[in-house]
Order: sequence, then structure tokens, then C-alpha cells
Amino acid sequence: MKIIITGAAGLIGSHLTQSFSSSHDVLPLKHSDLDITDSQAVASFLNQERPDLIVNCATIEVDDCERDPELARAIHVEGPRSLARAAASVGGEFIHFSTNYVFDGREEGRAPYTFQDKAHPVNVYGKVKLAGESAVRDACPHTFIIRTSWVYGRGKKTFLSTVYQELLAGRPVRAVADNWANTTYVVDLVSRIGELLPRKRYGTYHVVNQGVCSYSEFALEAGRILHLEDARLTELVQQIEEAETKRPAPRPRYTPMQCLMSDQLGLTPMRHWRSALKDYLMQATDNA
Ligand SMILES: NC(=O)c1ccc[n+]([C@@H]2O[C@H](COP(=O)([O-])OP(=O)(O)OC[C@H]3O[C@@H](n4cnc5c(N)ncnc54)[C@H](OP(=O)(O)O)[C@@H]3O)[C@@H](O)[C@H]2O)c1
Repeated sequence: MKIIITGAAGLIGSHLTQSFSSSHDVLPLKHSDLDITDSQAVASFLNQERPDLIVNCATIEVDDCERDPELARAIHVEGPRSLARAAASVGGEFIHFSTNYVFDGREEGRAPYTFQDKAHPVNVYGKVKLAGESAVRDACPHTFIIRTSWVYGRGKKTFLSTVYQELLAGRPVRAVADNWANTTYVVDLVSRIGELLPRKRYGTYHVVNQGVCSYSEFALEAGRILHLEDARLTELVQQIEEAETKRPAPRPRYTPMQCLMSDQLGLTPMRHWRSALKDYLMQATDNA
């Protein structure tokens, strides 16, 4: 297949590029190569390239969406709509990423959300991601919507991706202890997408590792895998509440997800987050 990936320099885009490149003709587009908010550039570029599949990985961060709702809408609704239209116009398929933040997470301890649960976002990012889902679904009939959650892996400086380095260096970290969601190892996400693509069952998937945790539970588990002693870990991982972070965008509190679509396809359940984290740390260090 000829595959175009937008936002390809990011975490998911770079891993997808690497994975798809072994068996497909992949054209990875960085922000500087194609700005997805430029609808004319999108239409003319894609009409010329005529890909079989477009994968949209372009995004801005949650708090930046809260600061600039107009830009958030351009990147998460209008840009994806142009890309999905372009895919449809050449008879292609479209993959679009969405998020657990489409749910409000108000009910702590609830059963995992499925695609049948009503979305009710609590911040601008969640609202535009939800609107983006409708836009791409309407624009391209051959669309996979992949909702994922708290993705980590090699190549992005985020708390989940780099907390192990802080702990190994003996630097204390502040970790939020009162929000819970599924984490997702990017390698597992990419591998699941590889399984979904050939099945051509278009719809909304929840692709996450099993089990929920908070950032502080994730950090503590990373420390244990790295054989740090409990007393040392208690010193290093400073547990804080979401309210203390004073981040511009409110976060939904409890957003576990489950993938009914993958269950219906008979796919093996995604592994547990502790096992995925162990694998990540084994790859990232020699002593996990
Ligand atoms: N990471 C997560 O935890 C997570 C969780 C749930 C859902 N998702 C979704 O997964 C998708 C990919 O996320 P990610 O974590 O891989 O993102 P990322 O690492 O932040 O990468 C996003 C990329 O998009 C590029 N970009 C920004 N504005 C653009 C524009 N107007 N046109 C083209 N490219 C643009 C950025 O380039 P510059 O930096 O050069 O601007 C960056 O390389 C997004 O849809 C996101 O909402 C991610």
C-alpha cells in the first residue's frame, strides 16, 4: 500500500512510520512538510500522491488546546476533515487517532468505557477530538477511529516516557495520584493497528493496555521494575493531586476503556500495562 502519515515526527507517527516501512511504501510528512490546517495544500498534495491510506497523527497538547480553542479546532476538526475528504476522493482509507478524554471520567471505579458509551468531554481537547471523530466519519466511509490513552515510548519527552530516567538518576518526580486511565505502550498500539488494517472493519476502536493506573502508580511500578527499594521510591515519587498542578485544562478523573470491536474480531486482548512497561524498560535500559 502507499501510505501517507501526517504529524509523522511525533511519538505515534514515528513508530508507525518505522513499522509500516518494512512492508509498505510510506511517505512520512512532518509538520514542515504539510500543515494539515492548510486545506488547499492538503487537497492538492494528496490528489497528486493518491495514497491508499492516510494516517493522521498531527496534534497539539491538551493544555495548548485550552489556551487556543481556535487552533485546537483547526488541527483536530478541520484539518482531519480535509484529510479524510482527500482519502475518500481517491477511494482510500483513513486512520484517525482520538482519546479517552472524550469521556468525562466522573464515576470513579466504573466499568471500562466502550464505544457504545456516551462521550461527554470536560476540556477543549476532548471536545475537539470528539468533533473530529464525527467530521472524519462523515467525510470518509473507510475510516478507522483509534481512541487511545496516555501513550508512551521511545522518542517523546513526556512524564510516562521518561520518568524511569529521573528515578535512575535519583531525581525526585511529582506524580499526579488522583487521575486514572489506561496507559498504552506505543509498540503495542502500532502492532494492534497492523492487525486491524487488513480486516477492513471500519469503526471506533479503544486501543490501550489493560488495567488502569495513576501517574504515581506508573512511576512506582517503573521504580520497582528497575529494582529501586521501596523506601527510596517513596522519597523519589512525590504524590500530588491534580488540583496542585494548576494546569489550564481540567482532566477527566477516571477513564478506563475496553475495545468491543477488537473483542468482536476475536483479537487477543492487549497485555496488561505492567507487562508492557516492563518490556519498555527492558528495551530502554540494560538492567531492568
Ligand atoms: N500521546 C498520547 O498520550 C495520546 C493519547 C490519546 C490520543 N492521542 C492522539 O494520537 C495522535 C498522535 O499523538 P502523538 O502523541 O503521537 O503526538 P505528538 O508526539 O505530539 O506529535 C504530533 C505531531 O503533530 C505535528 N503537528 C502539529 N501541528 C500540525 C499541523 N498543523 N500539521 C501537521 N502536523 C502538525 C507536530 O509537529 P511540531 O511539533 O513540529 O508542530 C508533531 O510532530 C493525536 O491525534 C493525539 O490526539 C495521543
